[in-house]
Amino acid sequence: MSSADPTQMRPRRFLPTGPLTGRIRVPGDKSISHRSIMLGALAVGETRVTGLLEGEDVLATAAAMRAMGASVERLGDGEWRVSGVGVGALLQPEAALDMGNSGTSTRLLMGLVASHPITASFVGDASLSKRPMGRVIEPLSRMGADFTASPGGTLPLMLRGAAPAVPIEYRLPVASAQVKSAILLAGLNTPGITTVIEPVPTRDHSERMLRGFGAQLDVETDADGVRTIRIVGEAELRPQVIEVPGDPSSAAFFIVAALIVPGSDVVIENVGLNPTRAGLIEVLRLMGGQIDELNPREVGGEPVADLHVRHSVLTGIAVDPAVAPSMIDEFPALFVAAALAQGRTVTTGLDELRVKESDRLAVMAAALTAAGARVSETEDGLIIDGTGGDPLPGTGHAIATHLDHRIAMSMAVAGLVSTRGVEVDDTRPIATSFPVFEALLDGLRG
Ligand code: S3P
Repeated sequence: MSSADPTQMRPRRFLPTGPLTGRIRVPGDKSISHRSIMLGALAVGETRVTGLLEGEDVLATAAAMRAMGASVERLGDGEWRVSGVGVGALLQPEAALDMGNSGTSTRLLMGLVASHPITASFVGDASLSKRPMGRVIEPLSRMGADFTASPGGTLPLMLRGAAPAVPIEYRLPVASAQVKSAILLAGLNTPGITTVIEPVPTRDHSERMLRGFGAQLDVETDADGVRTIRIVGEAELRPQVIEVPGDPSSAAFFIVAALIVPGSDVVIENVGLNPTRAGLIEVLRLMGGQIDELNPREVGGEPVADLHVRHSVLTGIAVDPAVAPSMIDEFPALFVAAALAQGRTVTTGLDELRVKESDRLAVMAAALTAAGARVSETEDGLIIDGTGGDPLPGTGHAIATHLDHRIAMSMAVAGLVSTRGVEVDDTRPIATSFPVFEALLDGLRG
């Protein structure tokens, strides 16, 4: 996705549907997929990955690791082989690293480059080029890396890594797994101990996987839940065999769809349920959603289950802002559930949603309003008065997705419970995280 060229846009009207029924399996977790390629590329030897998400964002990470010397090959459906160069041995890329739409690729790779003796330029699409990089530039500069960024600390930017880098102790000013991970990844090739203090826990896939690859990393949690994460630098990583569990952030669209479409009964297989990711399920259950966990097990060091979801009468609630980090990507889907619930849903503490692939508070408020929902936008959240299950009127004109895959998929789901359907201006961004979304949805309509 390099531009929002209107002549290339792929609009689609998502029409009302009868019950959704059947079983689906969502693709691999995006966060875990990125990390498996990055760490595989830093281990000496051959890492095997199955269930890798083959979305555009992860492919951008794969291309970048190739450009820095690793071999990253697709063997079959979701099956990949990564031959790493070893920590400290990344090569200088010859051309700018094209990060497409992917904030995770950009911020985590900036961490990797920051402690290698190489220079790399990062470029991205129109959405990514607006997103704040200052949050990683600041700690990585303290470690010795040097940056030339575009005004406002955005892409395109050039990064000169430090060799050797300097270990830091850094308290995260925003709850961000990407910032935490960028520092830990920089710490891998930094002499001494790099420390990240995380006042509010965020997804911990980096910590789990770094340990799995043999890095010395420990986590201490104090009585207030503040986590102190220490990584010992100049690490040697051992190649691994990794099975990537299904992405709860992709499952979210089908969980909400099955809850709001009358008569639906759906099983979503192989969904990752790491507690740092499972906030949406907790919130939807509080709203009255029937979501059962079947066959709980462990996949790739992460808790996983099949989710059985049935149509439910949902009731609006005030969502506890403390749960936000564990469902940070799921708010667009939750807003759709709230628009169909009985009564009022109030969300607060969501400033971070304004700096995702789009300003998800403003864009979802506009999109849901266009579809006939009653929504008001506050500084840090949305207040939504639901229809009590009655279909939304739907849209005449297409709603604007602003190169944001999760807006497109959320509004597709809203169209399923509408009178005249919801038209999404561009479905192309869906391929960044969930290329088979439309095929799975169409399959469940029977
Ligand atoms: C991610 C962290 C989150 C999330 C993103 C993936 C990760 O971003 O929104 O989709 O893989 O670390 P922030 O760290 O900006 O909250």
